[in-house]
Amino acid sequence: MSRITGLSITRKRKNVPVIIAMNVRDFSLVSSKSFKVVCSGGCGEEVWVNKRLERISSKVPVFCLDCCTAYLETSGVGYAFMTRACRDIIDKFTDERGVCKIPENWRDYIFFMGWDKHWETNEEPEGARDFAEEMADRLKEFMRGKGIGSVADYGCGPATTLFRLAEHFIDIDFYGYDMAASIIRKNTEKAREIGLMNLSFVQDSLPNPRKTKKFDLVTCFATLHYMEEIELAIKRLFERVNPGGCLIFNYPNTYTRKAYQEGIHPEDKCMKMRFASLLAGRNIVSQRRIHEILGARPKKFYSFIRSNIYVLIRKA
Ligand SMILES: C[S@@+](CC[C@H](N)C(=O)[O-])C[C@H]1O[C@@H](n2cnc3c(N)ncnc32)[C@H](O)[C@@H]1O
Ligand SMILES: [Zn+2]
Repeated sequence: MSRITGLSITRKRKNVPVIIAMNVRDFSLVSSKSFKVVCSGGCGEEVWVNKRLERISSKVPVFCLDCCTAYLETSGVGYAFMTRACRDIIDKFTDERGVCKIPENWRDYIFFMGWDKHWETNEEPEGARDFAEEMADRLKEFMRGKGIGSVADYGCGPATTLFRLAEHFIDIDFYGYDMAASIIRKNTEKAREIGLMNLSFVQDSLPNPRKTKKFDLVTCFATLHYMEEIELAIKRLFERVNPGGCLIFNYPNTYTRKAYQEGIHPEDKCMKMRFASLLAGRNIVSQRRIHEILGARPKKFYSFIRSNIYVLIRKA
């Protein structure tokens, strides 16, 4: 078993030192106490290493998260990696034998731990609840008389919209998906307390949700913004839609990026990390791009502010 203590991972049987560090492009803000080293895995990427590890880093290999899996598998885990995000990721993908296999889309898990902890302690912010209630009203209008039998919301969070809709349309099955186990637990308890039999919650994550059911309506709000592989996520969401059904969602575009660049305080490391993909412009899409990805024309569902266009795409 690997033991994780503070900044170090050690293994009892074998103890080969290695540093696993975050790619520079993923966390450009790690710490002023960090310096850059080229990854030993041959990818050519630079990683941040904490100054405390300066001496040891000249003697042991330093891997980025993309390159570390093979090394972890064959050598046993050694010492030290520097960011909390790295530690959480490695912890999450280490099995009982202490073997760590980090998936290629690990960037999408960076905030997994963050969200899980977030919903353990935080309530839904007032503004988000207002929005979710307003969205419930819009969807009620939209859904009326369409013969919709099932609805799924990905990245549901506290699921205010779903709770409203499930109370209103008692013959429709509603499903809320979120990667954070804590909010899935809370929502499930709440649905049980209220006695809502047509609303279920399941832990699942984008960009590759489980390929279980398909739905007449799929929604995804304020969630793609955090995702590196946004185009894949949009494709996968559309795959979950039944023929004749719809996908309604919002996504970050160039205006969103500008708004966040201007709106996030330069000292706010947390927000900068949370929206790193967006601030760097790596997950920006447009209505035209969405059309290219899905082969179906997006229609404006609701325009909130310029940076938040909700689009509706109907499946043939
Ligand atoms: C800002 S909240 C939005 C909640 C709700 N949809 C709303 O509009 O109020 C983002 C939610 O997405 C979830 N999330 C973040 N990344 C995700 C991913 N890759 N897959 C599934 N859920 C994710 C978080 O746990 C969080 O509950
Ligand atoms: Zn590498």
